[in-house]
Amino acid sequence: MKKLKKNRIVILIAIVLIAVVIIINPIKLINKNKLSNLKYKENTIENIFKYKLAEKVIEIGYSKTLESALNSKDFEKKNINSYEKIDYVEQDDFVKNINSLLEKEYSIDEINHINKTATKEDVDYILTLEKEDVSKYLSIDYSKASKFKRYIEYASNNVLTKEEIVTYINIGLDNDFYKEYNDVTDFNNTMLVNKYNKLPDDYVPENLTTIDSEYATNENQSATKEVVDAFIKMADDMKEENLHIIANSSYRDYQSQKDIYESYEKKYGGKYAMEYAALAGFSEHQTGLVIDIANKNHDIFSGTKEYQWLKKNSYKYGFILRYPKNKDNITGYAYEAWHYRYVGVELATKVFESELTYDEYYVKYLDN
Ligand code: DAL
Ligand code: ZN
Repeated sequence: MKKLKKNRIVILIAIVLIAVVIIINPIKLINKNKLSNLKYKENTIENIFKYKLAEKVIEIGYSKTLESALNSKDFEKKNINSYEKIDYVEQDDFVKNINSLLEKEYSIDEINHINKTATKEDVDYILTLEKEDVSKYLSIDYSKASKFKRYIEYASNNVLTKEEIVTYINIGLDNDFYKEYNDVTDFNNTMLVNKYNKLPDDYVPENLTTIDSEYATNENQSATKEVVDAFIKMADDMKEENLHIIANSSYRDYQSQKDIYESYEKKYGGKYAMEYAALAGFSEHQTGLVIDIANKNHDIFSGTKEYQWLKKNSYKYGFILRYPKNKDNITGYAYEAWHYRYVGVELATKVFESELTYDEYYVKYLDN
């Protein structure tokens, strides 16, 4: 009798224990706690349990992309290891796009590259292309998925390397210059101002400083303080070698650039004006970072010893030749042996060594 009672008690305890485990589920509780500590939100955690992925997600840790996938109707369990490696971006149908790109065997790096600039529409377009054609451009690190349509179109009309295509399209060479342009909003020594990048009409650089008349054609020459100092240092060093340079034209505000353009147009015609002068707002002269250099006799500059010296040495003072020979298809301007742009010594050295125009260098290395 006693033994029977004891057995009953044991069974009862066992039933209670099992009930406790089933109802409270301490493992689930522990996992829930862990996921919550990882910063997953309540609704995400519910989905994690629904997909039976608690342990897996705990092992992975927190990933914003993974969280977004777990909460998406497009979640695919088989892609879980990929989601966590993909950088999160705001993009319509983000998870669906990732699934489709993975389906087409794009690598994680490629997907991250695409997502840096792509909208949903860009991804839709990319998905219509052969992977091989897309990967070709993705192998160029400064290519932009938002411009793939233009790369493909340009490649079909021009015989160019893939690097050239990406560079030229990133500059904007397939667009109508002076019509389709970006507004320059970051004003610094490295800013790109050209036929596709416009300054505000009322932009006036800070620290404009008059260039001492000993170093200038007249008393109205100015540039930013840093540029004037660099120019004087360069001119003084050249003097030691019996070479003499002066600032012939430097900072020009919007109105004086407009006057110059119109005077060229009147005197030499539209084609010449287009090749040798910028439309107001699009001129580097308005940055205060440019000096048109002449020698004392105002000889044709490309034929002077001063030019030969500058070609080799101006970068050491922070100046680059902005419109080199035979690069008008890229720079938009004819060869100007006299037009020097200040970008600082470090960058000028890199641009000089690259043998690229500043437009090319900029889209390759500075335009993130
Ligand atoms: N001569 C250069 C292109 C300018 O006008 O800015
Ligand atoms: Zn100039």
